[in-house]
Amino acid sequence: MGNLITCSISCDEWMDKISQWLDKKVGYIHDLEKNLATLENSMVKLKAKRNDLLRKATREEDKGGQRLEEFQVWLKKVESLDQKVDALLDARDVQLQRHGNISRKDGVGIMGMYGMGGVGKTTLLMQINNKFSEERCGFDFVIWVVVSKELHVEKIQDEIAQKVGLDGEKWEKKKKSQKTIDLYNFLKKKRFVLFLDDIWEKVDLTEIGVPFPAPENRCKVVFTTRKQGVCSEMMAEEQLEVQCLAEIEAFDLFQKKVGQKTLDSDPEIPKLAKDVARKCGGLPLALNVIGETMSCKKTVEEWRHAINVLTSYATEFSGMEDKILPLLKYSYDNLKGEDVKSCLLYCALFPEDDLISKKYLIDYLICEDIIDGSEGIERAENKGYEIIGDLVRASLLMEDADMEQNVCVCMMLFAKWHCGLHLNWEEKRRLSLCMQV
Ligand SMILES: Nc1ncnc2c1ncn2[C@@H]1O[C@H](COP(=O)(O)OP(=O)(O)OP(=O)(O)O)[C@@H](O)[C@H]1O
Ligand SMILES: [Mg+2]
Repeated sequence: MGNLITCSISCDEWMDKISQWLDKKVGYIHDLEKNLATLENSMVKLKAKRNDLLRKATREEDKGGQRLEEFQVWLKKVESLDQKVDALLDARDVQLQRHGNISRKDGVGIMGMYGMGGVGKTTLLMQINNKFSEERCGFDFVIWVVVSKELHVEKIQDEIAQKVGLDGEKWEKKKKSQKTIDLYNFLKKKRFVLFLDDIWEKVDLTEIGVPFPAPENRCKVVFTTRKQGVCSEMMAEEQLEVQCLAEIEAFDLFQKKVGQKTLDSDPEIPKLAKDVARKCGGLPLALNVIGETMSCKKTVEEWRHAINVLTSYATEFSGMEDKILPLLKYSYDNLKGEDVKSCLLYCALFPEDDLISKKYLIDYLICEDIIDGSEGIERAENKGYEIIGDLVRASLLMEDADMEQNVCVCMMLFAKWHCGLHLNWEEKRRLSLCMQV
């Protein structure tokens, strides 16, 4: 048996490596493919070692020997690592690799990614877009367009024109039909991949002037949508469902958002945290928002209260399609300061997923008296930036990375919740009128 323990020392190296990778979350996109391959490889080697040792142990047992307790513990550790690695390889981040590979396959012209709101479709599409932008893969153009609920063909045309360099004064004067012809004539000689984020109905590529992706032109269109039916309407050759995070992955994200300090503040909190995380149903949006909300709650009583409130909101909203609404309401209730809440409600009046200039938003907020401007404009503007910062940290507003952080985007789901349920008609009308000024 002494043999067995000596052998296990070399295996512990593998075990340590794998544990480290799991801690670091190999799934994160940087070097994803390489890291996952190495992880998988290491796990195969570790399991081969385990099998060798098990065979040796059986031989020793046949001769009357006995397994050391330590060996049993080691076997259990390997088993648990194996499960974690399996979960990770199956997990959602790996979808990126698979989706990325599929979207690179030559046979696939149109690919649709569907899934519920807040599940991470845009995030995945953006990651694929970044990969294509970095690696090029023989494409002349990698084009990203956000479509959103209201479909405006001309807006899409203008964005594509801008990305391929057809825009300018002359372009602006052209009619929609001319833009269709010009775009088509330009793109038919190019190899492009077009990413369309958040489509709600069929986007007619011909009407826009986008040549239909075919094996001959080796062009691609990849889009996201909440509705699976849209994938068929778009004639997507590949339809991929973006799924919620698996339990381990979800809890991992939640813990990160809550922070170790809060989790360690009482021995009972980690268990309660599991219950709260479970209520987020594996939705990244909910895990981020609720995780952030809970990060300042350091007593068991506060966590129990959160569970009670979330349970009662879930009943209140039980008829609603979006399971995320009670979670968003809870995080809204927990925002510190009426001005922060009012700012969020105000943002929700902007079109869904619209980019809002921070400067303009702050000007509006001052004019609306949501921010007190009586003590000087500079002070009021600083307050405005502080409020926006609070909302971004709470994952209720997003900053647009490409625009030097001068704009933020209102989360679509929040807008829906607030407009549908929270404001009364008079308030909505008043705010909408202000927006038109
Ligand atoms: N794998 C992930 N890990 C951590 N956070 C994530 C992950 N995927 C998405 N998120 C976060 O969850 C939130 C929602 O993601 P995203 O906007 O991609 O969802 P969506 O499916 O596009 O939603 P919608 O249908 O409303 O457009 C974002 O704040 C995003 O940063
Ligand atoms: Mg989206």
